[in-house]
Amino acid sequence: MPKIKHFLSLKDFSKDEILRIVDTSVRIKENFLNGSKIQPYFKDKTLAMIFEKSSTRTRISFEIGAYQLGGMALFLSNKEIQLGRGESIKDTARVISSMADMIMIRTFDHSRLEEFSSFSSKAVINGLSNEYHPTQLIADYMTMLECGIGVAESKYLNLKKPIVCYIGDGNNMAHSWLMLSSKLGFELRIATPKGFEVDSGILNLALDFAKSSGAVINITNNPKDAAKDANVITTDTWVSMGQEEGKEEKIKQFSGFCVDSSIMNLGNNAIFLHCLPAYRGYEVSDEVIESSSSKVFIEAENRLHAHKGIIVFLEEENWKK
Ligand code: CP
Ligand code: NVA
Repeated sequence: MPKIKHFLSLKDFSKDEILRIVDTSVRIKENFLNGSKIQPYFKDKTLAMIFEKSSTRTRISFEIGAYQLGGMALFLSNKEIQLGRGESIKDTARVISSMADMIMIRTFDHSRLEEFSSFSSKAVINGLSNEYHPTQLIADYMTMLECGIGVAESKYLNLKKPIVCYIGDGNNMAHSWLMLSSKLGFELRIATPKGFEVDSGILNLALDFAKSSGAVINITNNPKDAAKDANVITTDTWVSMGQEEGKEEKIKQFSGFCVDSSIMNLGNNAIFLHCLPAYRGYEVSDEVIESSSSKVFIEAENRLHAHKGIIVFLEEENWKK
């Protein structure tokens, strides 16, 4: 089997590769806005999408994105395919990849994706795992660039160097921000309540990448310290999918971690990002998410173009060399 390039975590990508995916996504969006709705880089091809968890944005953007690239997508809920009844990952991977041209999976443990990809003859995309949500970060970085925030690149002039502040649960989004910051070399502060810190193995990996990229990474339990002078303030749900047990008790421990206007005011004219779905009154106030600083709906819309960028990148890497 030829060595396939998958998209499982930004930890597996260089800075140049991440920026290439972002550039491709930006170019696809520009062409789209200029009237080229269909850009057939995935012509007559098929994307199989396995969802072991719910989704609004990821499902719709990949499905419409595959169509806009000239291909089609197949929605496979875990309830309907034999994987949900105990068929092994390795058999499922070999069968689906013998028919589909690319596979997107939303699942629980990241190891399920790793196992699937090791038996897949086609590229696999992580549509969210318990540990990482990398497709989201491509859309988030696109949104930052559109707001004039990003690492220095000749193509984008006058970019403000990012100082990103993530406030909330040390979850798959926090881990994905760690990967983006440590690969691109920008400052990231993560503030979580005690006991809800990021995974120490993933943090150490990010600190290791940061040595060569120059990223500054700060971990704290104080959201106000983290927000000071940040130009991006972001959060995510306190209760991720599959982690609903003990939800009420958990929420009590997040008191003081809601991104409200007092937190936003500490930033430096900060934009607000959230991968959505958002729970108003918990991780973010209604006032902040509805404010002009909030870019969450542009961010969600950018998923469509980011996912097309990821598909095009994987096609180029795997089949067009
Ligand atoms: N942000 C995100 O992944 O949204 P969905 O869960 O709706 O796909
Ligand atoms: N951390 C959240 C992200 C949802 C898009 C979850 O995993 O449920």
